[in-house]
Amino acid sequence: MSGFDIKRPIVELPDQDPEQQIPDEELVWTDAEKKKIEIWKDQYPEPEAAIMKVLWLAQEKYDYLPPEVIRFCADTLDMDHARAYGVATFYTQYYKEEEGTFVLDVCTCFTCQFTGGYDILHHLEEKLGIHAGETTDDGMFTLQSVECLGCCGSAPMMQITNGVYCHNLTTEKVDAIIDGLENGEVPEFTSVTLPQDEDEMGGNRRSDVAKTETYQTQPRAEHTE
Ligand code: FES
Repeated sequence: MSGFDIKRPIVELPDQDPEQQIPDEELVWTDAEKKKIEIWKDQYPEPEAAIMKVLWLAQEKYDYLPPEVIRFCADTLDMDHARAYGVATFYTQYYKEEEGTFVLDVCTCFTCQFTGGYDILHHLEEKLGIHAGETTDDGMFTLQSVECLGCCGSAPMMQITNGVYCHNLTTEKVDAIIDGLENGEVPEFTSVTLPQDEDEMGGNRRSDVAKTETYQTQPRAEHTE
C-alpha cells in the first residue's frame, strides 16, 4: 500500500489528568431530561442499569462524553464512576472525544471481515488520508473499525454517525457515499431483508467464488507495521 505519513503509529496512553472540556455550570440536566431519567430508573431493578440510556442522553446533549460528563452521568445514578466509565469505553457508539461531522463505523467483525470489511476500511484510510481512530483535518470524517453491528446478512457494511447503515459495500459504493456526504447528502436508512430462497439469491452467493470479491488485504495494513 503506498504510504501517507503515519500520524499515530502507536496507541497513546490515556491522559491521566485531562483538561475539563465541559464547564461545571453546564453539567446539569433540564427538568425534561430529569423526568426522562426518573422514568428510565424505574424500568430496571437497579437504577444504575439505566446508565446506557443516560450516557446516550448526555451524548445527544454534549456531542461526546469527556470524563467529566461520564462522571456526571454516574453521579446522576449514584453509581461508581469506574462502572460508568467501563460502559462508556466498551461501546464505540459512545464518543469519548469530539468526532468529525460524520463518523464512519466500518464493521471488521467476522462476517464483514470475510466479505472484505478490511478492504473497505483500508480503502477509506487511503481515500481520507487517516487511519482508523482518526479524524480528517477538516473535521468532516472520523473513521472507526468496529465490532459486529448486527447486520451480517448484508456484509460488508458500515454505519454513519450512529444512524444510517450502508449495506453490501464495494469500494465504488463507498466512493459514492463519501462524495455524497461531502455535499451534505446523507444516504437514507434502508432496511435489508434476507433472501428467503436460492432463486431470490440468484445462486449461492457465498460459494460463487468467481463473482465474490473477498478479503484482499490483511487485517493489519502494511502502513501500520
Ligand atoms: S459482522 Fe459486520 S455486521 Fe455482523
